[in-house]
Amino acid sequence: MIPYIIALIMASLISLIPQSSRAEKAKTIDELVKMYDITRCIGCHRDKYEEWKDSTMGNSVVDPRVLRGWRTFIRLELDQEPTLSRKDLTICLNCHVPQIKDATPELVEHIAELVIMAVEDKDEGKREYARKELSKLNLNCLSCHHLRARGFEGEPEEGVLYGPREITSSPHEGIGFKTKRSALMSKSDFCAQCHHCPPSVPWEQCPTLYTSYVEGFLEKGRKETCQDCHMRDVDRSKKSGGWNHRFYGPDDIEFLKSAITLNVRARPTRYIDMYEGRFIPAVVLEVELTNNAGHVMPHG
Ligand code: HEC
Ligand code: HEC
Ligand code: HEC
Ligand code: HEC
Ligand code: HEC
Repeated sequence: MIPYIIALIMASLISLIPQSSRAEKAKTIDELVKMYDITRCIGCHRDKYEEWKDSTMGNSVVDPRVLRGWRTFIRLELDQEPTLSRKDLTICLNCHVPQIKDATPELVEHIAELVIMAVEDKDEGKREYARKELSKLNLNCLSCHHLRARGFEGEPEEGVLYGPREITSSPHEGIGFKTKRSALMSKSDFCAQCHHCPPSVPWEQCPTLYTSYVEGFLEKGRKETCQDCHMRDVDRSKKSGGWNHRFYGPDDIEFLKSAITLNVRARPTRYIDMYEGRFIPAVVLEVELTNNAGHVMPHG
């Protein structure tokens, strides 16, 4: 984890992630939320919205592990390192809430203060207030279907919603978007842009779950994408063809169970207790574990 974070910081500092910026920057959390408003998607995509809103990525800022990790990074790095300041919390926010590229540096500083308040404040009311403000920030439909839809291949075009298919209708004209295909969205590299280091970081310096996916899975001839495993219903009958936006992870018991095939063969035997001089009934277990996940387990 440590080399990974250092690699990320280096990559972010030299700004190798290409990013366009709007002329007007958001000065408050509410302004930023409004720029990337997704309430207008709900009417037509309620199922996707319901799945996403309780997902890990739908809570990519207020996850208690994330808040504590950021608090530590602010206190031990940003506040200590003379070349850094709290405005550099963008290093972390970039993947957790990509919309941050349209925030003023002062807003980033304010977010850092809210993180500290949410984790450390003695007043429960203040912690609750900070968490509530921060919960407005997350990885939403437009983070993926606009901002990051083309990954490192290029900038998103202004006013374009990207999806995995070529569609002939223009369903998003009413909300001011053209709809285009981004083939990347159906590839593992789409996920890897956040779940791995940027291409500028040498492969050996960034051992992640994605490294093990490429080396231990693809190179053994398997073909499934991250999406195939993480965005399909476990009993695949339910929503044939649809991509589930719960983004199944280890929190989902059924999904976690699919990670391992456990074969147990048991045979009764006896065990000799040498001190007491008697037989004790016992069982011999032969256990066969198969890892079905597309990468090492566990990770983190
Ligand atoms: C390149 C994208 C990216 C950047 C930049 C990034 N993160 Fe993350 N972060 C992730 C992803 C992806 C996960 C989920 C990883 C998983 O569950 O395997 C995550 C999960 C976490 C978690 C919770 C799980 C864990 O592993 O403990 C913490 C804490 C965290 N990040 C802190 C940070 C901090 C602190 C920074 C800034 C120094 C940062 N992140 C920058 C992508 C990023
Ligand atoms: C007025 C209804 C409507 C609204 C509002 C709407 N959509 Fe859609 N969207 C559709 C329909 C209908 C389709 C399917 C088009 C087809 O299959 O030809 C679609 C398809 C999509 C696709 C898939 C495209 C593909 O390549 O398969 C994505 C992604 C998408 N919408 C995202 C969004 C997001 C994000 C929002 C909010 C910013 C949104 N939509 C708002 C009606 C809507
Ligand atoms: C973490 C990134 C991510 C987020 C967040 C996200 N999507 Fe998607 N979405 C994808 C990917 C990737 C695909 C295509 C999967 C494939 O083709 O392999 C997809 C496919 C779709 C599709 C077309 C396929 C289908 O199942 O109908 C629609 C519609 C869609 N998303 C709507 C939304 C809406 C609405 C939201 C917000 C509530 C949203 N997405 C949030 C990554 C995301
Ligand atoms: C814009 C960056 C980004 C993209 C693109 C992205 N993720 Fe994530 N993902 C994250 C972050 C950040 C987290 C950590 C959130 C947290 O811990 O609260 C995360 C968490 C997850 C988790 C939950 C992990 C856990 O430990 O519970 C899964 C599963 C996941 N992502 C799968 C995917 C898949 C599959 C794709 C591609 C379809 C994808 N992600 C694309 C940033 C991203
Ligand atoms: C063959 C199916 C399969 C493929 C392919 C796959 N995963 Fe997983 N993944 C799983 C299973 C099952 C788990 C739950 C077990 C675990 O936590 O390791 C999991 C767990 C995860 C987690 C949570 C890890 C943790 O320990 O918190 C993340 C994040 C993740 N996968 C991301 C990805 C990404 C990104 C890709 C593509 C590069 C990918 N996965 C490819 C099946 C798959």
